[in-house]
Amino acid sequence: MNQIPGHGGDLRRACERYGIPLSQWQDLSTGISPWGFPVGAVPETVWRDLPVDTSALQHAAADYYGVSADAVVPAPGSQAAISIVPGLLPPAVVALPACGYTEHEIHWQNAGHTPLYYHTPAQLLQLAKQGAVTHAVIINPNNPTAEFYSAAGLRQLHNQLTGYLLVDEAFMDFDPAESMATSVADCERLCVLRSLGKFFGLAGLRLGFLLSRGEVAERFRARLDPWAVSHPALWVGEQALQNRQWQARQVRRIALMQSRLMQLLTDFIDRLDLEVALSPAGLFVSLSGPAASLEHLHGALARRAIFTRWGYRDCNAPRDATDQPYRVYLRVGLPPDGGVRLKAALNQIEQEWTCITL
Ligand SMILES: Cc1ncc(COP(=O)(O)O)c(C=O)c1O
Repeated sequence: MNQIPGHGGDLRRACERYGIPLSQWQDLSTGISPWGFPVGAVPETVWRDLPVDTSALQHAAADYYGVSADAVVPAPGSQAAISIVPGLLPPAVVALPACGYTEHEIHWQNAGHTPLYYHTPAQLLQLAKQGAVTHAVIINPNNPTAEFYSAAGLRQLHNQLTGYLLVDEAFMDFDPAESMATSVADCERLCVLRSLGKFFGLAGLRLGFLLSRGEVAERFRARLDPWAVSHPALWVGEQALQNRQWQARQVRRIALMQSRLMQLLTDFIDRLDLEVALSPAGLFVSLSGPAASLEHLHGALARRAIFTRWGYRDCNAPRDATDQPYRVYLRVGLPPDGGVRLKAALNQIEQEWTCITL
């Protein structure tokens, strides 16, 4: 993959770059829910005792994801599976999204696999039918592009592959209709990753799951350190996965905030007549378009202490001198204040940009 200087960047670097202290920023760059699951008082024994028994959490997860408890492997974040699973498989060609959470690419490459990048589900299916790839990684919905894949299409893909299909569903909880979790029962070479970090707003807890009945799940379980998931994580995770009332409330407020955010951004784009497409993915909205507008928008928001995530959408596309300029994405997470600060900033930016073009 071409590493392009200036890609992404985190909030601490932005503090230095824009000369704004950390405390003043509104961080919309993450895709983590602004409303975290309310963790009550954790019993003293949970802090004191080693986490020897994961079965209660496994059963809560099995119920929530619709799988059997023996197909649930708890892990310290779905990140643990992203970094370990590729090394459990013999090196082969792996299909990776041309634009997606880069940790997948890093770890498949580190484990000696050869990446082949796909841009559309149709292209990926074709590669699988031709036998050009052994394994495939899907991020559903994709972070950062907000593309969705249908479960029916992914089952078809699984059946074409000779190796494993790894589906990263870290952002699936808001609308799980197309989840592949229930398919692990009859798809042997399927691994589904789920996270408590995003929808439950518990990223600091470090809890996620590998759902699979394949041999690789056993190898993954064996590779994890003893007590890899802390006792507080087991305890909080069980409560969060069982609390259907809180989950339903969370879905309602995410839906409301997503539509408010879409409206704010659509109004801004329409009024300035920008060639930018908007795609919602529940916990974030992805803007896509030419670099000139979106890079400037990222910078203009950053100067107003609102941090978004931007990067190149097509950095793995084959290019030549006649190609169009790189297309950029800008990912905007849900604002915790209902969008008050973002709206004021977008109004200011609109005035600034209108004055420049007049
Ligand atoms: C698409 C995707 N998958 C997985 C992860 C890892 O999340 P966690 O380890 O908190 O479960 C992230 C984190 O940002 C992500 O964006």
